[in-house]
Amino acid sequence: MQTKVMQVDEQSLTYAAELLRSGQLVALPTETVYGIAADARNGEAVKKIFEAKGRPQDNPLIVHICGMEMLHGIVSEVPERAKKLAAAFWPGPLTMVLPKGPEVSEVTCAGLDTVGVRMPSHPVVQAVIRRSGVAFAAPSANLSGKPSPTSAEDTFADMNGRLPLILDGGECTYGVESTVVSLTGDQPVLLRPGYVTKEEMEQVLGEPVLVSHAILEKLADGEVARSPGMKYKHYAPKAEVTILEGSFDAYREYLAEHAAEGVWGLCFEGEGEHLPVPCIEYGRETHPEEQAHRLFSALRELDRRGAVTVYARCPRRDGVSMAVYNRLIRAAAFRVVQI
Ligand code: TXA
Ligand code: MG
Repeated sequence: MQTKVMQVDEQSLTYAAELLRSGQLVALPTETVYGIAADARNGEAVKKIFEAKGRPQDNPLIVHICGMEMLHGIVSEVPERAKKLAAAFWPGPLTMVLPKGPEVSEVTCAGLDTVGVRMPSHPVVQAVIRRSGVAFAAPSANLSGKPSPTSAEDTFADMNGRLPLILDGGECTYGVESTVVSLTGDQPVLLRPGYVTKEEMEQVLGEPVLVSHAILEKLADGEVARSPGMKYKHYAPKAEVTILEGSFDAYREYLAEHAAEGVWGLCFEGEGEHLPVPCIEYGRETHPEEQAHRLFSALRELDRRGAVTVYARCPRRDGVSMAVYNRLIRAAAFRVVQI
């Protein structure tokens, strides 16, 4: 299959809408990361997403909508908590897990009786949904297990030959995937941290949001994941990544001791020139939004440069940093060393 990359304009938006209506795939930018869209009601179309990504069949997809009225048929109930969170954070980078409605294909939800829904703020997503009339299922546009793409170029690197169209809408603003919160139980549970933070949701809801422990730690062998995506290896570059937790001075000393061919650093902005190995920087230490924006492209850059072993500076674990830490610790297969 030939993959076209088209700038966003009238013609490419019309083509994208036609493809979606006829059960084909379209890769497109969102405010978080690039996604691969298919009609969420059409099981045959959604199967093509799993094939294109090499994604395990039991990992459910998020349904994307562009107005509250579209929830009808996609979810079977809109709980009060969901209304409050939608009013505060939609359109934006928040996915809510709700009871599944009859119109969503079982393939989309991987057979679960719940569905993840989000209303993105990106104008390209909104235009494509409006033109096609299709609420689409869309995972991140990477090959399963690789870092999520935040540009049309990175999407092309993974998806060339696997789908007919990539809409090029430039770089994504946030750079990490949406926050996922489950609202199907007695208490709200954070399943994946993102730009919308636990603290912000607690303020809107006026109650605690539980943090699924799988967010910051490895699942025990045989443990059932509340969100199937948690159990898979994720975001991993080819290089072996280890997070070094400690001061900048300790980091510099550790690198000096371990410097060798193929050893790279993944450090904060402004640090690289003071370090004894080549480095990729991923945002200022005090600016988690910058780290989120740069992390995935930095991991891909390390692969392109041929890094074999990567030692990463450790982000914090609160606010937006929780999202950065959650992605980095998976890229590092949970290797964290105290220095
Ligand atoms: O920002 C995003 O959410 C991006 C863009 C493209 O919108 N999409 C995205 O999708 O990150 P994906 O498939 O890469 O991640 C979806 C995550 C997975 O970890 C999955 O297990 C979880 O959401 N998820 C989806 N539906 C769920 C459900 N019904 N119950 C629990 N977890 C669910
Ligand atoms: Mg993904």
